[in-house]
Amino acid sequence: MPKKFVVTPWEVKGEVDYDKLIKEFGTKKIDDALLERIEKHAGELHLYLKRGIFFSHRDFDWILDKYEKGEKFYLYTGRGPSGNTHIGHLVPWIFTKHLQDVFGAELYFQMTDDEKFLFKRDIDLKTSMGFTYKNALDVIACGFDPKKTFIFSDIEYAKTLYKIGVQVAKHITFSTAKAVFGFTNENNIGTIFFPAIQAAPCFLPSVLKGKNIPCLIPAAIDQDPYWRPSRDVAPKLGFYKPAQIHCKFIPGLGKGGKMSASEPETCIFTTDSPEVAGKKVMNAFTGGAGTVKEHKEKGGEPEICTIYNYYRFFFEGADKRLEEVFHACKRGELICGECKGVLAERVKKFLTEHQKKREKAKDVIQDFMLKD
Ligand code: TYM
Repeated sequence: MPKKFVVTPWEVKGEVDYDKLIKEFGTKKIDDALLERIEKHAGELHLYLKRGIFFSHRDFDWILDKYEKGEKFYLYTGRGPSGNTHIGHLVPWIFTKHLQDVFGAELYFQMTDDEKFLFKRDIDLKTSMGFTYKNALDVIACGFDPKKTFIFSDIEYAKTLYKIGVQVAKHITFSTAKAVFGFTNENNIGTIFFPAIQAAPCFLPSVLKGKNIPCLIPAAIDQDPYWRPSRDVAPKLGFYKPAQIHCKFIPGLGKGGKMSASEPETCIFTTDSPEVAGKKVMNAFTGGAGTVKEHKEKGGEPEICTIYNYYRFFFEGADKRLEEVFHACKRGELICGECKGVLAERVKKFLTEHQKKREKAKDVIQDFMLKD
């Protein structure tokens, strides 16, 4: 029986079949021809492209057509500030920074403090607005160019965003919103309007600069439903359809499922001390057999192993090493404690460096914030 999974902007459950998702969502796989084109611009393919972590897109080829003809595009991505940032969130941001470097693109970064207030029962507006600033430190720590990066809070930048949002909203019926987002009679009316606000930055620079500018959105695939009505509405308002490039989910440290703040024990927050994060890694679910003896006899299952999966995200330029780890685990030569120890050290080093940059970001945060 095929395994069941759910992917929406608010819920990711089960073992995600990404090929099936491409079909269901109507996106396109990033194929070799597209990879070649990207490589030509980048010099070398980013780790996340090489390893299929960014795997799907809408109109990225069109973005490259435009770019190759001399038309610059901008990047748009965001965060729902409901708590501390975890390392899963960093995946699209690290890749966005790479795209900024390669294409010299501006980045508009939306903090949906309104979304988190409206969709989550247990969070007040003051808290989500507070996390806008705390999460912005993580964004800045990724190394974005301050001259080309504009971060904004929906609540604080409402004067500009609302004007675009209402124009979008007028073209989306309640029946479309129900079909795309699964809204029911129990939804508060703020949640029903909200997708128009997440659509607004797809057109924001075009409005600010008074000319049509192509938009590329890097994000995990859970955000894709937002872009469907945005793409339908775009030509009606005289704008280009926003393009997307989608990544897979970094898994939690437990068995199955994406990394999620709602399961703090299996989630590495950027604010965790390196020691705490290291301990979480040492307690992670692996593909190892029940006992070391059994593991040595029968071998492990790297295919389902969280630790092995993390190697794919963390081990830069070590494709050969990755293969060796896979086979050594299969043969039972590499035991889980060893593998976890190596990853724990990597994660600790990564966090120590990230936290230093995050601290420095406090001095420059105002240079990044867009106000109206
Ligand atoms: P949010 O805060 O849920 O997630 C922020 C970004 O992280 C991605 N993401 C992940 N990527 C890899 N592995 C994971 N485990 C993982 N969990 C989350 C999300 O896809 C997202 O890119 N509504 C949005 C905020 C937003 C936005 C945007 C996001 C507003 N405009 C434009 C992307 C693009 C939200 O709540 O994201």
